Amino acid sequence: MKASSNITIPNITEQLTPRSSTQFRTGFDVEKIREDFPILKQRVHGKPLVYLDNAATTQKPRVVIEAIQKYYTEENANVHRGVHFLSEKATQAYEGARSRIRRFINASKDKEIIFVRGATEGINLVVNSYGRKYIQPGDEIIISAMEHHSNIVPWQMLCEEKGAKLRIIPMNDAGELLIDEYEELLNERTKFVSVVQVSNSLGTVNPVRQIIQMAHNYGIPVLIDGAQAVQHMPVDVRDLDCDFYVFSGHKIFGPTGIGILYGKERLLEVMPPYQGGGDMILSVTFEKTIYNTLPAKFEAGTPHIEGGIGLGVAVDYVSKIGLDAIAAYEQELLKYATEALSEIEGLRIIGTAKEKASVLSFVLEGVHPHDMGTILDTEGIAIRTGHHCTQPVMQRFGIPATARASLAFYNTKEDIDALVRGIYKVKEIFGS
Ligand code: ALA
Repeated sequence: MKASSNITIPNITEQLTPRSSTQFRTGFDVEKIREDFPILKQRVHGKPLVYLDNAATTQKPRVVIEAIQKYYTEENANVHRGVHFLSEKATQAYEGARSRIRRFINASKDKEIIFVRGATEGINLVVNSYGRKYIQPGDEIIISAMEHHSNIVPWQMLCEEKGAKLRIIPMNDAGELLIDEYEELLNERTKFVSVVQVSNSLGTVNPVRQIIQMAHNYGIPVLIDGAQAVQHMPVDVRDLDCDFYVFSGHKIFGPTGIGILYGKERLLEVMPPYQGGGDMILSVTFEKTIYNTLPAKFEAGTPHIEGGIGLGVAVDYVSKIGLDAIAAYEQELLKYATEALSEIEGLRIIGTAKEKASVLSFVLEGVHPHDMGTILDTEGIAIRTGHHCTQPVMQRFGIPATARASLAFYNTKEDIDALVRGIYKVKEIFGS
């Protein structure tokens, strides 16, 4: 990296060289993978792009970009309604994507896969459909202390409307949920548990299988927010035995504006529709509307057709690389990054759970995270700064914000080295 003319960057090459020369054991061909992502080749502010904001959104492989282009070039028509050639073609591509996604998370039936706008809409659907039907005054809903706002606010709104109570599973200083305290919270008033699988601001991987099992002992349904999980590790909804699972397409190398709600068929069947409109009906008169069967019952209006198709291609793409291989590589990268950041004086990692995905939140003494993000940007390094839509997490750690580097399988050791050099530059500028 070149220093800008008026700033002296400490020579850290020496301390980085030994680590950089160490080969990862996984033998993951990251350079070949990077060829699939055209955007990664670009320069930002004259520097090679180092994209470390993957928890906010991921970049798209060429196969996804091409699938969307192909859809608009060769297949575009509205789905489900037409008898003409293009409509049939679009319907096949869209419904084919549903099957690909069903296989990806190992759901048993296509009708358990509901297309939504993203994880947020998936949670709002469950809250407004299941929650409004089944939650009563005095009931309790359990979430955790590390939820994204999207898994807090909808439940709060429901509790306000119904006179129900939100209970929170606390966490320790490492950012791990206190499972004994969760056990204490479960009781006959508990009517729903909704917990994140991987924290977007701490990186913690929660023991969701255990959390689900414990709730099921009381007959309580569980929703898992997998927005930060499906791109990092294999997810099998039947093995987890979760009742609902949500994730967003754009965080797993697919398009924005599309996401998935998985729900067990028997639950989706008894839930009322969330929105009314086209596609979700069998018949309409002014006296009565008969709702469509699953999954259409929950998909009012013309859907995000190319989004669904693009997401289907994205999940096939990551499956082909293999989630086990991705997880192994990212764990090596995480370890490398954690060690490198830990060596920086005055830097504190927020979120030090034993089980982590490749998310590194940190604060640097004497430097506001926003300033850090701005300076790193001048070096072509994209990180995220702020509260990451998890203000209660920031409150728990007594900080207003963190800087967050979140890694995907196309990131490299060199990306981490660039981040470390960038942080030294920040330190130099702030004299910290
Ligand atoms: N929830 C997204 C993030 O963590 C936007 O950055």
